[in-house]
Amino acid sequence: MTDRILIIDFGSQFTQLIARRVREAGVYSEIHPFNKVTAETVKEFGPKGIILSGGPASVTEAASPRVPAGVFDHGVPILGVCYGQQAMCAQLGGAVSTSDHREFGRSFLQVEKNCALFDGVWQVGGREQVWMSHGDRVTAIPPGFSVVGQSEGAPFAAIADESRKMYGIQFHAEVVHTPDGAKLYSNFVHKICGCAGDWTMAAFKEQAIQAVRQQVGSGRVICGLSGGVDSSVVAVLLHEAIGDQLTCVYVDHGLMRAGESEQVVSLFRDRFNIKLVHNDASDLFLGKLAGKTDPEEKRKIIGATFIDVFEAEAKKIGGADFLAQGTLYPDVIESVSFTGGPSVTIKSHHNVGGLPARMNMKLVEPLRELFKDEVRALGRELGLPDEMVGRHPFPGPGLAIRIPGQEITREKLDILRAADAIYLQEIRNAGLYDAIWQAFVVLLPVRTVGVMGDGRTYDYACAIRAVTSTDGMTADFYPFPHEFLGRVATRIINEVRGINRVTYDITSKPPGTIEWE
Ligand code: XMP
Repeated sequence: MTDRILIIDFGSQFTQLIARRVREAGVYSEIHPFNKVTAETVKEFGPKGIILSGGPASVTEAASPRVPAGVFDHGVPILGVCYGQQAMCAQLGGAVSTSDHREFGRSFLQVEKNCALFDGVWQVGGREQVWMSHGDRVTAIPPGFSVVGQSEGAPFAAIADESRKMYGIQFHAEVVHTPDGAKLYSNFVHKICGCAGDWTMAAFKEQAIQAVRQQVGSGRVICGLSGGVDSSVVAVLLHEAIGDQLTCVYVDHGLMRAGESEQVVSLFRDRFNIKLVHNDASDLFLGKLAGKTDPEEKRKIIGATFIDVFEAEAKKIGGADFLAQGTLYPDVIESVSFTGGPSVTIKSHHNVGGLPARMNMKLVEPLRELFKDEVRALGRELGLPDEMVGRHPFPGPGLAIRIPGQEITREKLDILRAADAIYLQEIRNAGLYDAIWQAFVVLLPVRTVGVMGDGRTYDYACAIRAVTSTDGMTADFYPFPHEFLGRVATRIINEVRGINRVTYDITSKPPGTIEWE
């Protein structure tokens, strides 16, 4: 079995980043919520090291989370981070109290002593930048530990018991604002836990294929293809694992970009030889959307119609035992996080979450452990073309939410598609596609007066949008050179009948959102 690290989650917003740093060090890891871990699950998992994450609770409260039984006596190295350090100290005979010296943000760690965690990274006497976020702090360390680093607000900012290979840090080494943090995690997993660091995407692919075969047996699997990266990777991976036991269903809602549906069909059916049902349901979707202008209503109609069509197709092929989904790691964490998800719904993003329960199918989710860029690496490993794995995200409701505040018609969709294709082509030609998170045209519900060839025009205005982002949660507009914007505007106005004005959207998120509705 490959070396693995168990990360026990106490609900920190940075737990995913810990997993990420461990994988970057070439070591496989999994995050398990603290309240799902028992001595048996630790044994079964067989970790070479355990990391205790941060979390929002306070160890000083009686009902706060504790390090699960079986962790300390499992005999492998342990690294406690922030809340993880505090819980470890409290449970091993130290003390924690609520502090007046709360530390949030950048802080400096005075290195007091050498230890394996700092090996080759920090020297005694160094003053190193770290990132803190804590109210409570350790006030007495457990027997066997010594202080290896201090900060102004935390006299026990880094502690170590080298004989038991237990380490605690008050700061968050997993965030980029602790510039040497990745090296500390690398030290922990390699030098302290002895992990080989040989985890690769090729190894993951083989493991994932075996796991799918084991889960599915001789059962039948259905997979909804959207044309996006995640579902494409799932489809190809499953096809390698179980061949014709897989059927993919592409529900074409008629709201895709120029040429996209044809690409999906030719790539999966012709090139990968995957059994693919292509249901062109554009009449049905556009019929249901007729006269609708409210964004949430549009999303609901599209989501519900998608489920109806998908279910009908599943029945036609005689049903299936499993539904394959491209759920990623951040989605998993969001749904199991014991602190709950976001409190306000800004947009009810359409997804197929309602399907499995309604169709009574078990889920196959081979990407559950991966981050987006790892999914892309897996896609390349599986032979998916670069244009597919490097694709920008595209929203489930498609172009319907890029024709804001107005009725969606085939005519408007055609105008939007033509403008969008020109814009994306220019972005690719300029070599900017990969520097941008998402780029698209929005057809505005306003007609403006123009003059072309001595004649008056009265046509639509459009907005072009391009943003940079790492996760879609926050975003900034892309600073195109004016000359590039001018070229795109000229081409759209000259080549797309129906648009006579182009504007550039320079709103960041927040306060805007990426899509216009
Ligand atoms: P917003 O507009 O909320 O978008 O800033 C964040 C990311 O989500 C995409 N998006 C959607 N994806 N269904 C989806 O599957 C939706 O209803 C939806 N709305 C927005 C958006 O394209 C961006 O990547």
